[in-house]
Amino acid sequence: MTHRRLIVGNWKMNPQTADEAKKIARAARARASALAHASVVVCPPFPFLPACASRAAAPHYELGAQSVSVDASGAHTGQVGAAMLHSLGARYAIVGHSEERKAGDTDATVSKRLSMAVASGMTAILCVGEESRDESGSYFAALKAQIEGSLAGAAAADASHVVIAYEPVWAIGAKEAMLPDQVAEAVIFVKKAFSDLFGAEAGRSLKVLYGGSVNFRNAADIIRIGRADGLLVGRESVNIPGFAELLKAVDEA
Ligand code: PGA
Repeated sequence: MTHRRLIVGNWKMNPQTADEAKKIARAARARASALAHASVVVCPPFPFLPACASRAAAPHYELGAQSVSVDASGAHTGQVGAAMLHSLGARYAIVGHSEERKAGDTDATVSKRLSMAVASGMTAILCVGEESRDESGSYFAALKAQIEGSLAGAAAADASHVVIAYEPVWAIGAKEAMLPDQVAEAVIFVKKAFSDLFGAEAGRSLKVLYGGSVNFRNAADIIRIGRADGLLVGRESVNIPGFAELLKAVDEA
């Protein structure tokens, strides 16, 4: 294996207290240290970042933010900037999650967030994915346009600080994940689109994660058959026993 699989836990607006956050993070950290073939990134809500940081060395465990402001600093009430997140230990930042796109984020604002994250020394986890699928296959064109638009502000030098999470919107918060064969097809497509923008070497080095209803039962097949370089996990990432099982399954896949 050439690189570790990247397992990102997107906690969304969970849990409700810092104590609970600490508990979930501690469990993830303990598991992460034992992994031979995977690394874990935990993305709690902003206020819980300090509670999820580790004072001691934590192998294969990093912190991530769920978003980042389009602005660097200044008069932007309610916003949280990339430098602040980095100073709290965040080394990754999710940008362009479909729940944020639904709330008004566009490719243009996603591109700004991505540039802010990368400029502050973080790796951006760029989320892309079609709303729905039909027989015509037109979703591939939409996906390509979304990748290009969301990376419009990125320079070639930024490419190694970008991970793409392919999350078909229809599979998020759903009952079932996408089938592993379909994941494999999408992973190749995303890598090709990235190569077209930044060159073949960048395409080869890019990590493409799959997200959408991943759990401990389907994770190994999505990695093995789906050939994803990692996973973006929502619900199962705040379920302590479920996430532990998932990490074990991915490590053994
Ligand atoms: P889910 O969420 O695993 O709960 O479907 C995934 C995501 O939105 O990143």
